[in-house]
Amino acid sequence: MIRAVTLPLLAALLFRETGAYNQRRYIDNSSGTPEVIIPGASSYNGLNLVPQMGWNNWNAFQCDVDESLLLDTAQKMIDFGLRDLGYNHIVLDDCWSIDRNESGYLVSDPIKFPSGMKAIADRLHQLGFRFGMYSSAGIFTCARYPGSLGHEQKDADLWASWGVDYLKYDNCFNQGQSGTPKLSFDRYKVMSDALNSTGHPMVYSMCNWGNDDPYDWAYTIANSGRMSGDIYDSFNRPDARCPCTEAIGCSWPGFHCSVMNILNKMAPIAPRTMSGYFNDMDMLEVGNGGQSDSEYVVHFSMWAIHSSPMLIGTNVGTLSPANLAIYSNPAILAINQDPSAGGASRKWRYFVDPDETGEGEISLWTRGLKNGDRIVALLNAANSTMMMNASMNEIFFDQRTAGAYREPEELRQTWDIYDLWANRMSEEEAASIINGNATTRGNHTTRFNATATSYAEGIANNDTALFGVHVGSIAPSGTFSAEIARHSVGVYRLRARPTPTSRKRDEL
Ligand SMILES: *[C@@H]1O[C@H](CO)[C@@H](O)[C@H](O)[C@H]1NC(C)=O
Ligand SMILES: *[C@@H]1O[C@H](CO)[C@@H](O)[C@H](O)[C@H]1NC(C)=O
Ligand SMILES: *[C@@H]1O[C@H](CO)[C@@H](O)[C@H](O)[C@H]1NC(C)=O
Ligand SMILES: *[C@@H]1O[C@H](CO)[C@@H](O)[C@H](O)[C@H]1NC(C)=O
Ligand SMILES: *[C@@H]1O[C@H](CO)[C@@H](O)[C@H](O)[C@H]1NC(C)=O
Ligand SMILES: *[C@@H]1O[C@H](CO)[C@@H](O)[C@H](O)[C@H]1NC(C)=O
Ligand SMILES: *[C@@H]1O[C@H](CO)[C@@H](O)[C@H](O)[C@H]1NC(C)=O
Ligand SMILES: *[C@@H]1O[C@H](CO)[C@@H](O)[C@H](O)[C@H]1NC(C)=O
Ligand SMILES: *[C@@H]1O[C@H](CO)[C@@H](O)[C@H](O)[C@H]1NC(C)=O
Repeated sequence: MIRAVTLPLLAALLFRETGAYNQRRYIDNSSGTPEVIIPGASSYNGLNLVPQMGWNNWNAFQCDVDESLLLDTAQKMIDFGLRDLGYNHIVLDDCWSIDRNESGYLVSDPIKFPSGMKAIADRLHQLGFRFGMYSSAGIFTCARYPGSLGHEQKDADLWASWGVDYLKYDNCFNQGQSGTPKLSFDRYKVMSDALNSTGHPMVYSMCNWGNDDPYDWAYTIANSGRMSGDIYDSFNRPDARCPCTEAIGCSWPGFHCSVMNILNKMAPIAPRTMSGYFNDMDMLEVGNGGQSDSEYVVHFSMWAIHSSPMLIGTNVGTLSPANLAIYSNPAILAINQDPSAGGASRKWRYFVDPDETGEGEISLWTRGLKNGDRIVALLNAANSTMMMNASMNEIFFDQRTAGAYREPEELRQTWDIYDLWANRMSEEEAASIINGNATTRGNHTTRFNATATSYAEGIANNDTALFGVHVGSIAPSGTFSAEIARHSVGVYRLRARPTPTSRKRDEL
């Protein structure tokens, strides 16, 4: 467990040397190629340098899957512009196989998937998607279909032969091979090695619910790892089946974890998010009906800010205009896809005003981005509207404490503030996209095509769709304040003014 000590220490040293924002694991050299400074702290297999995006059927369909669901969803995602916002994985979850054949290979269900998996993979590739598969590091999957424990190489070879690009690997029926990091590591590493030895690149998405603290060890064998028990479609309602409020050392992750429960578990482990290994906060519930519009905005925003994988977990065919507008906010997705690949830090959290669930807190989260911009999220999970404040010292607290010897540059700059939800796509526009008669296809304030132009390029070009609305600025020693409604969040991108100015202070 030497790494547990050295990783943060090296990160601190790196910070001092480069003046980089915290959680950045590499610097760019002049060629633009990331140079890995901390061994093992970037992608172990070269894949998934920014979080995977896409769709997974589980939250909305569970076992009710077949090939037309996958292909129809893919087509809708193209039509709605979702593929071109970066949602380019179609992930088939549990319940797709029937058995193993005499040679020990899995057999897909011929009734649900009459064309066979290879043909489905080929079709998805033609449509510009990657194809994800599911299994469990146990003798059964969670729905009691055949699991891969003890069959890792045959299963990996079969998926590779089909052209599968991605594996979600669950934790059910693991025969008690868990309870220490070493047991879990060894069990999940067998599949990691099996995938690698196929020679076919496959993103490896571990789903062991945060058991045995995977954020401490999984980055050497996987591309993402679930850090909590399963999400359910609730904003903050506690549930006895999700007993832990902290990720670290949670021996019974359970399920029915709310958005706020999962979010707050991220606070201590966010520094263990890195390019090539993302803490997976679980699939998105936006569209499934259990939360209000503003609660879904919180869910979507906070997952994005933490570089969680962004997998749409609803029926795309029945998406409402409001929910499409949430999934389609490119200014928020640009944070998720930022090459800094970091998590956010929770600068403060106060319990102020409980709602009927007994929960009621407000918090400030911040995150640095690759180009020096800074994200500020003012989260109001309390029961009433709040005027919320973030001082320069709070926003740049990490810079201030790490600086030690001189006032950090950031505190002496004036920052322009962009409200990243202020240009949310209107319901009219979203409805026209859903109905296939969009007349505003070229709305440059709401639409972004990440297939044509990467988010990084869009940010470098100051693309208006990625910046929301300029709402003010914050001067040295200043405080930013915004009125945030009950159960909602304000998400802002702060950008330093190019030259030091002699503007008068306390502009805001
Ligand atoms: C940049 O990194 C690449 C890959 O590690 C290396 O080949 C190249 O020499 C580096 N360039 C400079 C200027 O350091
Ligand atoms: C995005 O750009 C790609 C490549 O230029 C193009 O094929 C695709 O149709 C565009 N998507 C949308 C929604 O405009
Ligand atoms: C078992 O499945 C594999 C992979 O689909 C196939 O190559 C093999 O021929 C099958 N074996 C038998 C005995 O059906
Ligand atoms: C296998 O792992 C090595 C590094 O250990 C990596 O260079 C290679 O790209 C990987 N191959 C696949 C197919 O994942
Ligand atoms: C939450 O706010 C609502 C509306 O203002 C109020 O009716 C309710 O009593 C509040 N809940 C609690 C637990 O204070
Ligand atoms: C923000 O500052 C204002 C003005 O000082 C104050 O009235 C308000 O209570 C503060 N909000 C919070 C949530 O502390
Ligand atoms: C583009 O979207 C913005 C934000 O929803 C809206 O204010 C504007 O009217 C739209 N423009 C057109 C041409 O529809
Ligand atoms: C768009 O399509 C919907 C559904 O087919 C239809 O109800 C609506 O009238 C159409 N709107 C326009 C402006 O053509
Ligand atoms: C983007 O905006 C910044 C100021 O916020 C400016 O320094 C930079 O030159 C702009 N880039 C482009 C390509 O316009």
